[in-house]
Amino acid sequence: MEIPQHISIIMDGNGRWARQQGKRRLFGHNAGVEAVRDVTTYCAEIGVKYLSLFAFSEENWDRPADEVKGLMELLLKTMIAERDTLLKNHIRLQVIGNTVRLSPSLMDAIHDLERESAVGGDRMAMIVMLSYSGKWDILQAVRRYTADCLAAGKELPIDEAGFSGYLATAGIPDPDLLVRTSGEQRISNYMLWQTAYTEFYYTPVLWPDFRRSDLEQAISDFNKRQRRYGKVE
Ligand code: FPP
Repeated sequence: MEIPQHISIIMDGNGRWARQQGKRRLFGHNAGVEAVRDVTTYCAEIGVKYLSLFAFSEENWDRPADEVKGLMELLLKTMIAERDTLLKNHIRLQVIGNTVRLSPSLMDAIHDLERESAVGGDRMAMIVMLSYSGKWDILQAVRRYTADCLAAGKELPIDEAGFSGYLATAGIPDPDLLVRTSGEQRISNYMLWQTAYTEFYYTPVLWPDFRRSDLEQAISDFNKRQRRYGKVE
């Protein structure tokens, strides 16, 4: 079976999972951490090189303040709690997004773990997309390209590969497989540029219930696809 080099996941359905049990939404986010742990270790085991997880979108800042606060606290707590597991498994952490909106304490924890896990973290990259949106990414790329042009005093030549280098995901190959849980079938302003030829897989399973067996199914489905990149066979 071909293992996708880069798997990306839109982890959806935490709120519904909690509501089904008469609990608050944060209960679902907490339960989602177990799914993250299971899927991450599984991906490292089978030889996935890049696993990116959509943890918080730019739009998510508009959720009720207590949910945003709870999610940020959960992320900070998880970074600290999972440190040893990441290092032991040679997984390097990378956080991508409009991180200027994150708290200094969360940013400190992120930078510490990014630095620590970069040493020896050659088995797999775990990329957490935080305060991320696809349109934000394209816009920040355009701004930085424009700044480079102004600094050079001329219009610099640019092609698709060159533009990819300005995106926040620079250096990371485009996702081969994008999984979205909870039955929603849309891109929700995720990696708009990077998913041009990504294979999409949707499952009704809610994120806190998602386990390695569900991902195995997605990979098996991916193996039946024929990627033509707009060409003929
Ligand atoms: C979507 O469910 C999920 C989120 C916005 C948060 C995902 C975050 C985690 C699982 C926390 C841990 C993550 C890492 C990387 C350590 P939703 O709230 O949109 O659910 P709903 O659509 O049912 O309301």
